[in-house]
Amino acid sequence: PLVSMRQLLDHAAENNYGLPAFNVNNMEQVWAIMEAANQIDAPVIMQASAGARKYAGEPFLRHQILAALEAYPHIPVVMHQDHGQSPAICMAAIKSGFTSVMMDGSLEADGKTTASYEYNVAVSKEVVKFSHAIGVSVEAELGVLGSLETMMGDKEDGHGADGVMTREQLLTDVEQAADFVKQTNCDALAIAIGTSHGAYKFTKKPTGDILAIDRIAEIHARIPNTHLVMHGSSSVPQELLDEIRQFGGDMKETYGVPVEEIVKGIANGVRKINIDTDIRLAMTGAVRRYLFENPSKFDPRDYLKPAREAAKKICLARYEAFGCAGQA
Ligand code: G3H
Ligand code: 13P
Ligand code: NA
Ligand code: ZN
Repeated sequence: PLVSMRQLLDHAAENNYGLPAFNVNNMEQVWAIMEAANQIDAPVIMQASAGARKYAGEPFLRHQILAALEAYPHIPVVMHQDHGQSPAICMAAIKSGFTSVMMDGSLEADGKTTASYEYNVAVSKEVVKFSHAIGVSVEAELGVLGSLETMMGDKEDGHGADGVMTREQLLTDVEQAADFVKQTNCDALAIAIGTSHGAYKFTKKPTGDILAIDRIAEIHARIPNTHLVMHGSSSVPQELLDEIRQFGGDMKETYGVPVEEIVKGIANGVRKINIDTDIRLAMTGAVRRYLFENPSKFDPRDYLKPAREAAKKICLARYEAFGCAGQA
């Protein structure tokens, strides 16, 4: 059944686990997430970005998730709008059937300019007001995602803050988080702790100075009833980078967020973990390998089958590591 994010995250908090929230834009990804969840009886958060809607179109996106609900009627599923850039976008998602929306007011509606605190409070509050009135959950974001190594905002996939940031902007402030939640009453809060979107997060395996896992416990202690969200949480497995390179791809040296750091985050209050890049890497590695090893094949099903199996494997590993098995 379709459920609200609040329901799932409350359950995760009561039972001390975290839920991966996987980005979807095509059938193979939806299949992989649902197959993995079904295999180990995990609840599901599927999220769609503005880019996903642009790629698939609103009806295809909506019906793919509805198809998953029909095919797996026993699994609770949240249909979540990822990084809504304005109240209007969140409203449109709700009309389209989403049970949860993210109002990302850390940036202005252009998706590039770092927003003022007042702007973020105002738009987040507005979205909470109309969403809660009809039982839809709201995730907000406080702080700017970006690298504590380079001090650059998160630009890799074309959305994220422009230019050089301060350490203060790149780490969510504890007292500001408390004030933000008090003013907006959001259900979940995405925090900045040094993660960024995409494959290029860190130039080495991250240590505490560039991935501030400690900050999570400080924020959680101050706002224990608000579920914390980690964006940019792909682990960027080295073996997937190697597979892509081995079969003709060009991926520079890079490191993601280690699964064990996410697990520490969950122990300290993180409940929603956003993952997109790892699924992209897994599918691309599998497709490259298949086409390299089978150069005469041309039926998309032949190479999409290993691609969706590779995506399923990543999803299963994250569900297991985050403690979701048996929680559906
Ligand atoms: O927030 C970023 C997600 O990875 C979605 O990326 O905007 O390319 O669909 P996208
Ligand atoms: P990754 O790019 O690390 O997978 O992060 C995805 C994300 O945060 C979507 O909102
Ligand atoms: Na990046
Ligand atoms: Zn994100």
